[in-house]
Amino acid sequence: MRGVLFSALSICGALAQSSLDSYISTEGPIAKAGLLANIGASGSKSAGAKSGIVIASPSTVNPDYLFTWVRDSSLVFKVLIDQFTTGQDTTLLGQIQDFVSAETSLQQVSNPSGTITTGGLGEPKFNIDGSAFTESWGRPQRDGPALRSTSLISYANWLLKNTTASNVADTLWPTIKLDLDYVASNWNQTGFDLWEEVQSSSFFTTAVQHRSLREGAALATALGEDASTYTEQADNALCFLQSYWNPTAGYITSNTGGGRSGIDANSALASIHTFDPAAGCDANTFQPCSDKALSSLKVYVDSFRSIYALNSGIAANAAVATGRYPEDVYMGGNPWYLTTAAVAEQLYDALSVWAAQGSLDVTAVSLPFFQQFQAGVTAGTYASSTETFTTLTAAIKSFADGFLEIHAKYTPANGGLAEQFDRANGTALSAVDLTWSYAAALTVFSARAGTTPASWGAKGLAVPAICERGPQGATVDVTFNVVATTVPGESIYLTGSVDALEDWFPDNAILLSAANYPTWSITVNVPASTLIEYKYIRKNNGAVTWESDPNNQFSSPANGAFALNDTWR
Ligand SMILES: *[C@@H]1O[C@H](CO)[C@@H](O)[C@H](O)[C@H]1NC(C)=O
Ligand SMILES: *[C@@H]1O[C@H](CO)[C@@H](O)[C@H](O)[C@H]1NC(C)=O
Ligand SMILES: *[C@@H]1O[C@H](CO)[C@@H](O)[C@H](O)[C@H]1NC(C)=O
Ligand SMILES: *[C@@H]1O[C@H](CO)[C@@H](O)[C@H](O)[C@H]1NC(C)=O
Repeated sequence: MRGVLFSALSICGALAQSSLDSYISTEGPIAKAGLLANIGASGSKSAGAKSGIVIASPSTVNPDYLFTWVRDSSLVFKVLIDQFTTGQDTTLLGQIQDFVSAETSLQQVSNPSGTITTGGLGEPKFNIDGSAFTESWGRPQRDGPALRSTSLISYANWLLKNTTASNVADTLWPTIKLDLDYVASNWNQTGFDLWEEVQSSSFFTTAVQHRSLREGAALATALGEDASTYTEQADNALCFLQSYWNPTAGYITSNTGGGRSGIDANSALASIHTFDPAAGCDANTFQPCSDKALSSLKVYVDSFRSIYALNSGIAANAAVATGRYPEDVYMGGNPWYLTTAAVAEQLYDALSVWAAQGSLDVTAVSLPFFQQFQAGVTAGTYASSTETFTTLTAAIKSFADGFLEIHAKYTPANGGLAEQFDRANGTALSAVDLTWSYAAALTVFSARAGTTPASWGAKGLAVPAICERGPQGATVDVTFNVVATTVPGESIYLTGSVDALEDWFPDNAILLSAANYPTWSITVNVPASTLIEYKYIRKNNGAVTWESDPNNQFSSPANGAFALNDTWR
């Protein structure tokens, strides 16, 4: 079902402008109500959720999203905390306090990623009654503690003004500190990306980790706590963050693993969730208006022009529906509401910075982005008094609005926001009432209205000349023994879910020794206290055969040697 209003109207020019305004004025309250309906204990669509727990979606089949994710919950509450602390909605204090209590409890729940002291904070999702989710999953995910501390720090900064430092130190700080300490200790380890598919390093994760450490250091200082570890690891993470940039192809490679192009909404989402209006168009932190983030945005948007039938016939410099990444096949691989909104949001954020600084820079890196809107534009700085500035910003505003017009066009008449819309006909699909879709609608509407978030300290940061590694954590020796009969020329290899097992990359899989044939063996130094998945593979003259599903898994001990005795499957 398409929005009745939009199917009948032209989507360009003044008419589209006014229909977009009216979409926002209708959809804004629907999104806010939809978001609140998914928060326990009183939300109308979240029966069974504990107080302060955010459900991802009320959908229980195909897909079952009736769980609480730390990432989604933290992004959702960031919206509510920002609305509360800026005085837009003064009724939210009770819900924010419930969220703090719920997350403080979740931190302590032992789960398959570990306990509070052995990596449990990396657990991505829990049951909505606050108990551990114990089935197999892509874990750990290391953006959760970073995003949660960012949300709680926004609230803490308000509370510092509202009460006293000692009150913040006694109430919120212990929860924030647990997350910050986890981020400081683990940012330099791999984990699953925000789409829960790729086990590697991920741009979004590193970017939000950097942000949390930076603002965590400022809060620690304000509370008279030691901030040195957070600052040191923030510098290291900022250094590593630079490595995701692909200068030849002009985009941010979202994951270091996964065997994909790396073109991914991951990078636009990182830009909007680490937007600091005080940082200008700083490229070291990939601000929304930085040349690198704009170049990357163009590559990302363009990757969907030809693959979705929905986008056919749309001009090469006009807005299109966008999804997570072009290779996506989940639920058929479709556009998502929150990713299409993220493109618009990055552009609105950029427009607000250009307006505030009274100029915009076109560099060799961002030239292809700007040439979409004025073919003859050349690198340079354009003051707001110039015609080039006026032409470019007006065109970019229309371009940004175009993404929201698409969002509007494929939103059903009742305003409900699912996760995805069909790549060929635009019908809403996958999880209904996705809480993150509602949160993303609220933030893009707010960005379009010119509202900017608080600064978090991204301004003027220097990237260290040499990238130091972060803490590497304890490791243990694990011996993998597998009984496998082989034919001449064939050998057994091992790969799995951690760097030490080559991150599921068969080309780099580790060769086992056949000294005790038919038992093949190898001892590998792996992270301690970690849930590790792995498989053996056979290689014979370039032909690779994997063991059958499911993956093997074990929890490595905190210390001491350990042996696994497997039989090829
Ligand atoms: C703290 O916040 C509450 C809730 O918004 C408000 O009623 C109270 O006046 C504030 N106190 C101070 C000292 O700002
Ligand atoms: C850890 O940091 C070093 C230095 O920046 C970097 O080379 C390495 O790839 C990082 N590894 C992970 C998993 O973050
Ligand atoms: C849109 O396409 C999907 C997938 O092919 C199909 O299930 C659905 O019925 C279609 N909806 C409409 C309104 O055509
Ligand atoms: C594997 O075999 C060794 C030697 O027999 C034994 O000590 C060890 O406990 C076994 N490992 C497991 C996980 O059963």
